[in-house]
Amino acid sequence: MPQVASSVEQVPHSRIRELAEIAMSMQGVLRLYFGESNLPTPEFIKRAATEALADGYTFYTENAGLPSLRRAIAKKYAELQGVELDPGTEIVITASGVQALNVGIRAVLDPGDEALVLTPAWPNGSSNVAMANAVVHQIPHPLRGDRYGIDFDALEAAVTPRTRLLLYTSPSNPLGWVATDDEQQGLLDFARRHGLWLLADEVYDRLYYAGGSLGVPVPSILRKATRDDAVMVVQSFSKTYCMTGWRVGWLVARRDLAHKATQLNEFIISHAPSFAQKAAETALAHGEGELAGMLERLQQNRDLCLDALRGMPGITVPKPDGAFYLFPKIEGLTDSFGFCRKLLEECKVGLAPGVAFGAGGEGSVRICYAAEREILEPAMERLARFLNQRRAF
Ligand SMILES: Cc1ncc(COP(=O)(O)O)c(C=O)c1O
Repeated sequence: MPQVASSVEQVPHSRIRELAEIAMSMQGVLRLYFGESNLPTPEFIKRAATEALADGYTFYTENAGLPSLRRAIAKKYAELQGVELDPGTEIVITASGVQALNVGIRAVLDPGDEALVLTPAWPNGSSNVAMANAVVHQIPHPLRGDRYGIDFDALEAAVTPRTRLLLYTSPSNPLGWVATDDEQQGLLDFARRHGLWLLADEVYDRLYYAGGSLGVPVPSILRKATRDDAVMVVQSFSKTYCMTGWRVGWLVARRDLAHKATQLNEFIISHAPSFAQKAAETALAHGEGELAGMLERLQQNRDLCLDALRGMPGITVPKPDGAFYLFPKIEGLTDSFGFCRKLLEECKVGLAPGVAFGAGGEGSVRICYAAEREILEPAMERLARFLNQRRAF
């Protein structure tokens, strides 16, 4: 009987999904397991999409996406990051951040190649390496005092002649860690020294609470890298503009890579939905006001959950500077999936198990705090009660 390819069989399933599927079959759950805001897409973006449909954005577009959207993205980089990009050759619109990860990774890895991935991290990066028939080496972020860092010695030790790629996420999902200037420089130097592609997942760059004022983005790696460096940046409209269901993102890359990714797009997705691309243009042009309001709420939510967690027994949780997650470490925990399942069944609180995020993730749980206070407050109370009556996991 024909079988599913063994290379596909070995791609692990998402343990966030596994937990979510149990939760979705239940009523009345306080859902904090997925990485998305409870807020709907702002009205002006929805209106832009219906106008785009009426205006005829129902046909195929270029594989690299609408030139007008690429120009709008280049303009935003110039304004926010002081980075000049050529919209014609260095930006590729994708049908989401995860598709940008997919096409970027696929374009640089041959079967049997190796990739270094800083973890705990959203599992899709490592899974995309596996889907390219390449080998993942996960390098955990060490917790030093009250801040996560990068283990450059472990990175050095993991390089082999087959290593081609280093993937990191800043701001991090699930840690909320944001790479410092020195850490970014260290990663870039490391990649240059070993002749590796450096792939920076920057989809949370606008969700930043330590930039002096809210709305200031995390400085992109593109500020440090030249356009001739082997650097790629993955981006998305999902998080900044509450557009998870729309599936629009982009890839910034060296010209030759961007050119190849554009070609590959033809065979994968052809391009992101035409009217969604048009609406994304409007999000970039007019989204700052809504974003500012969201950031204020997110920062309050972070602080509310952080205070609550720090009052719970056996919890260690650094203050995150970005994204919308907390990743508390629970003393003595060795089965985060079992913990989350019991918490779900007994208390109707849905969290993502740390084990889902790869090396360094077990022993923690991820809380997405992009929800209303009416959900977060009882969720924290129930978690505290659950921990107080804690059994062994
Ligand atoms: C780190 C990271 N990168 C990329 C994505 C992709 O987002 P999307 O595919 O919705 O654009 C996510 C979504 O959760 C994420 O957490």
